[in-house]
Amino acid sequence: MSSPLQRRLFAFAAFACLFSSVYSAIIAQTIHDDHDHAALNKRLPSTWYQADDHPAHKLFKRAGTDGQVYAQVGSPTWAAGYPQSTPDPSKLPQAWVDALNAATAAGKIPGFAPSTSTGGNPTYPQGMDPNGDQICSTTYKCRKNPENIYDAPDGLLGVSFDDGPLPTSDKLYDFLKGNNQPATHFFIGLNILYNYKQFDRAFNELQDDIAVHTWTHPYMTTLDNMAVLGQLGWTMEIIHNSTGGRLPKYWRPPYGDSDNRVNAIAREVFGLTTVIWNQDTEDWSLTTGGTTPQKINASMTKWLTGPKQPGLVILEHELSDQSVQAFIDAYPVMKSNGWNVVSVARMDGQAPYQNSPDSTGDVVPQEVALLANNGTSSSSSSSTTPSGTSSTSSSGLPSGAIAPTGGASLQHNSAATTLPHLANWQVQALLVTCLVTMLSTVVMISRS
Ligand SMILES: *[C@@H]1O[C@H](CO)[C@@H](O)[C@H](O)[C@H]1NC(C)=O
Ligand SMILES: *[C@@H]1O[C@H](CO)[C@@H](O)[C@H](O)[C@H]1NC(C)=O
Ligand SMILES: *[C@@H]1O[C@H](CO)[C@@H](O)[C@H](O)[C@H]1NC(C)=O
Ligand SMILES: [Zn+2]
Repeated sequence: MSSPLQRRLFAFAAFACLFSSVYSAIIAQTIHDDHDHAALNKRLPSTWYQADDHPAHKLFKRAGTDGQVYAQVGSPTWAAGYPQSTPDPSKLPQAWVDALNAATAAGKIPGFAPSTSTGGNPTYPQGMDPNGDQICSTTYKCRKNPENIYDAPDGLLGVSFDDGPLPTSDKLYDFLKGNNQPATHFFIGLNILYNYKQFDRAFNELQDDIAVHTWTHPYMTTLDNMAVLGQLGWTMEIIHNSTGGRLPKYWRPPYGDSDNRVNAIAREVFGLTTVIWNQDTEDWSLTTGGTTPQKINASMTKWLTGPKQPGLVILEHELSDQSVQAFIDAYPVMKSNGWNVVSVARMDGQAPYQNSPDSTGDVVPQEVALLANNGTSSSSSSSTTPSGTSSTSSSGLPSGAIAPTGGASLQHNSAATTLPHLANWQVQALLVTCLVTMLSTVVMISRS
């Protein structure tokens, strides 16, 4: 008969075998998804592998990253680094400032003064034409800067939503997911900070394209260069740090308000292209009586049943239930009229990010500021300091924009719980150990 020691050895061996088998099954599963079939661990029968739609499978699926370690989205560490309101221009990472100075010294940033706005369209110093070559204001729908995107290619309808992420986004995301419809989200940085769960849904669950809509939604042409830098830079930073290192390629100015000076900072420092629109539902004013679902239905019907040259870029918002509903109502009409409905960021067939093809593909490591690693700028970005105060009333959001909501509690997201980390060779060593122990125990037991 077997001794207590032998029984204990046998139990240990059995446990080791079970653990290492399950573990290698998981490793094989991961390899199976990410790489080629040749790398499969063939020791286990295929029934060990879960189907791709199994819930457990999601735990081990990871979007591509640049290899850096970033704080868990939604964790206090993640939130701590960002301004709580309008960014303080005197507390910007040195690398961004260096990049702006380099671009200015190279003559790439037009030197005209900011506009002034008293509620209506921003105005420029007397004698300066907002539609002229020098300023080319997008508020005035100037089309003299060929880099700005207003239209979609023929036959295409570029879908995008401004002002999220917000609690109202959930209804939209359920709809987009149900219809397998990709979209671009022009996100407000501060809204990402406070509504990180919806951010996580847009990026990880929908795998949609994330783009920039500034940090606090100001009239950008009214800001000086440093304030423009902060509005774009922090939004780039939070998207970069929350998407495994991806850098958006597109931004949309709040109210469509940009000009050649602001565009130049966006392009030269951050590599961003400006996207406006060619049709406006004014859906943002549904909640304030500015427009009605009937009016939107009428304009949508006209655009969607009209000519397809050029294609459509319709301004829409994930701002309220009503604005989301306006899209949901119009969507079947988009499809039935033969539009090729795509994410705005992919209208040109290119990637939505500067350093990655999409939300899951490989990421090339890249700094937020383009010129950050170039020659003159030796200062590191470690001087990054959160700025502003936590006063919510001074968030700088003009009316018509969305105030961030739901910011009360930032909780650590525990979805990242995984198995202890073991290398492949460690698992194999464990397998061998368990087999040897098991065998010798059986031999010992049978001899006694
Ligand atoms: C962004 O991530 C990098 C790398 O982890 C980190 O050094 C930096 O402080 C983060 N930025 C913010 C604002 O937290
Ligand atoms: C307009 O409303 C009608 C009636 O409810 C509906 O059938 C149609 O799909 C709507 N069209 C759009 C573009 O929302
Ligand atoms: C970096 O500097 C080199 C040499 O001065 C220059 O050729 C290159 O264009 C710069 N890179 C960027 C992104 O400006
Ligand atoms: Zn907006």
